[in-house]
Amino acid sequence: MELPYAEPYKIKMVEHIKRSTQEQRLKWIQEADYNLFNLSSDKVFIDVLTDSGTGAMSDKQWAEMMVGDESYAGSSSFLKLKETVHKITGFNYFLPTHQGRAAENVLFSALVKEGDIVPGNSHFDTTKGHIEFRKAKAVDCTIDEAFDTSNMHPFKGNVDLNKLETVFKSHPKEKIPFVVLTITCNSAGGQPVSVQNTKDVSALCKKYGIPLYFDAARFAENAYFIKKREPGYENKSIKEIAKEVFSYGDGMTMSSKKDGLVNMGGFIALNNEEVFKQATVFNIMFEGFITYGGMNGRDMGALAVGLDEATEFNYLESRVEQIAFLGQKLVDFGVPVQQPFGGHAIFLDANKFVPKIPREEYRAQALAIEIYIVGGIRGVEIGTVLADRDPVTRENRYPELELVRLAIPRRTYTNNHMEYIAVALKNIYDTREEAKSGYMIVDEAPIMRHFTAKFKKL
Ligand code: F0G
Repeated sequence: MELPYAEPYKIKMVEHIKRSTQEQRLKWIQEADYNLFNLSSDKVFIDVLTDSGTGAMSDKQWAEMMVGDESYAGSSSFLKLKETVHKITGFNYFLPTHQGRAAENVLFSALVKEGDIVPGNSHFDTTKGHIEFRKAKAVDCTIDEAFDTSNMHPFKGNVDLNKLETVFKSHPKEKIPFVVLTITCNSAGGQPVSVQNTKDVSALCKKYGIPLYFDAARFAENAYFIKKREPGYENKSIKEIAKEVFSYGDGMTMSSKKDGLVNMGGFIALNNEEVFKQATVFNIMFEGFITYGGMNGRDMGALAVGLDEATEFNYLESRVEQIAFLGQKLVDFGVPVQQPFGGHAIFLDANKFVPKIPREEYRAQALAIEIYIVGGIRGVEIGTVLADRDPVTRENRYPELELVRLAIPRRTYTNNHMEYIAVALKNIYDTREEAKSGYMIVDEAPIMRHFTAKFKKL
């Protein structure tokens, strides 16, 4: 008999999580104004709100915490991290920041001006937020296949080169500070970008004289998909693949809370000295001195180790295949999910799951709330609430997809937790005909409203 798969780690410390009843959860979510971000974590049984900063560090990372150097300038932890970033990405200049959006804030302060256009593949909401906050525009050039949740395209994060060239042709070069390529593409469902597409985007950018930056939060998961799916890469190591991908760009912003395997942190890495100098000024203003940028020395040390661990095949296999394990259970139950499965999360297709709830009543939000009530499971809406209003017309923006994301923290839950999630969803799916009405927003912030919006049940 062939030996079954097993994780390449064992558990050294456990954290208790609390069970609750449906009655309790009904009361709690009402008190939280039907916003899952408003729940305290002790009211959640399985927390799949995000895979960001929620993973488990390894013993080697914890050991590194103990030798962290907290010197203000030039700490050995900084140097260790700088060296690792150079080794893994190939980029020459490096600036730590406290998280990914801080890296965006610093880099975009140097590069983005009012009236600019920043094309990319389904920009993440903080990326789009930092572009729009500067009165510039993010243009989505993702391939159309990404918007069909049952299309089995292996690289649904890819950029449509025609869409991108149309943007290049219809705006002067000076108005396009850079293109941002998000690997994997979170907003398209944790979908990867191929090396071929990265190369093609890079060549097009060079032809028009426009820099290419990566939003590299999940670059290691992206490299894993390349190894598994792209011909010619099956025998390359994850580190080789990641480095090749980065070689086609000019720089990157990173949320280390994902593939850095730490709870907090981010950075910018790039090749252009002039841009580095400009970004340095903003880093000092917003984040801290350039050798810590809002991070503790010990955290920079743990990140250096984390980046190395996250780019090892055995770790990535257990990571990405756990997502697929959950995805396959859901598919077997007939639950509509995005396929192929993403690298960090399973995305439920609310348009197919609860089509009778009107879109104006935030059907994906309604589904996310139901999942909490039934199972104590906290996912997140990736649909109309997240899409915010159009900055000019202030009308709701209706994205092509209404999704609920179940983002799985790294090295944190077991496959029993995945089974539990799958059965809770099956039970909801079996009674989906009863779901006909959703929610209205009674209070919202002008930008990134999903974090704090208050809802009323209709
Ligand atoms: N880029 C991508 C692709 C992201 O997924 C995130 C964060 C960021 C940038 C911003 O990084 O949180 O460190 O400031 N994504 C989290 C999520 C919040 O839940 O997907 P950050």
